[in-house]
Amino acid sequence: MSENTIALVTGANKGIGFEIAAGLGALGWSVGVGARNDERREAAVAKLRAAGADAFGVPLDVTDDASVEAAARLIEERGGRLDVLVNNAGVTGGMPQQPTDVDLDTVRTAVETNVIGVIRVTNALLPLLHRSESPRIINMSSTVGSLTRQSDPDTENQVGPLSVAYSPSKTFLNAVTVQYARELRGTKFLINAACPGYVATDLNGFRGVRTPEQGAAIAIKLATMPADGPSGSYFDDDGVIPW
Ligand SMILES: NC(=O)c1ccc[n+]([C@@H]2O[C@H](COP(=O)([O-])OP(=O)(O)OC[C@H]3O[C@@H](n4cnc5c(N)ncnc54)[C@H](OP(=O)(O)O)[C@@H]3O)[C@@H](O)[C@H]2O)c1
Repeated sequence: MSENTIALVTGANKGIGFEIAAGLGALGWSVGVGARNDERREAAVAKLRAAGADAFGVPLDVTDDASVEAAARLIEERGGRLDVLVNNAGVTGGMPQQPTDVDLDTVRTAVETNVIGVIRVTNALLPLLHRSESPRIINMSSTVGSLTRQSDPDTENQVGPLSVAYSPSKTFLNAVTVQYARELRGTKFLINAACPGYVATDLNGFRGVRTPEQGAAIAIKLATMPADGPSGSYFDDDGVIPW
C-alpha cells in the first residue's frame, strides 16, 4: 500500500478540478486526475507533473458504470486504497432552464452527472476509502443549491439565473451528502458539500469573478480536515451555507 495520501478528483482536466488536483499535489499527495477525454486528461497530468505533483491519469466518465468500475480498479492497483475523493465533475445540463418550458433532457443531463454520477463514483470507491485511516469525501456543490437563498427575494442577485436543472441538481446533491454522512456517522469518514464561489470557468462562459485557484481552496480545506472536523455540512470560504 502507498504511504502517500491518495486522492481522486473527478473532472480534474480543467477549471476548479484541475486546481484542486494542483493544490492537493502541492501537499505532496498522490493525485488521480479523473477525466473522460484522453487528450485533455494527459495534458492536465503532464502540466501537474511538470509542476512537481505526483499526478496520475484516471480515465473516468462519471455517467458510465464500466468507466467508474475501471477507475476504481486502477486506483486499487496503484495505491491499494483511497484517502480523499473530490466529486467535482459537473455540468449545467445546458441553458436556458426556465422551469415552465425546459427541455426535459436538460434536467436529466444535470441530474445524471451532478447527482447520480456522484453516487456511482462514491459507491464504487467506498471499499477503497474504507481502507483509509482518515477518509474524506468532498462533493462540489454550489450556493445556487441553497433553498434558503433561492427562496429569499433579498438574495435574488446571489442565486444565479433561473434554473430548474442545475440549481436543483445541487440541492439534490446536498441532500445526498447528508444521507451519506448519516449512514457513515460515527465512522472515520468526513463527508461534506462545498461551494467554490462564482469562478471563471467553461461552466459559465468565464463570467465568474473568482479564479479557479480561489475556487479550489474550500475543497482543499475540507480534504485536509482533522478527525474531529465536520461531516454532513455545506461550506464556502465564508463558513457554513444555509441548506
Ligand atoms: N464555476 C463556478 O462558478 C461554479 C460555482 C459553483 C459550483 N461549481 C461546481 O464546481 C465544479 C467544477 O466546475 P467548473 O466551474 O470547474 O467547470 P468546468 O471548467 O466546466 O469543469 C467541469 C469538469 O467536469 C468534467 N465533467 C463533466 N461531465 C463529466 C463526466 N460525465 N465525467 C467526467 N467528467 C465530467 C469536465 O470534463 P470535460 O472537459 O470532459 O467536459 C470538466 O473537467 C462543478 O461541479 C460545478 O457545478 C462551479
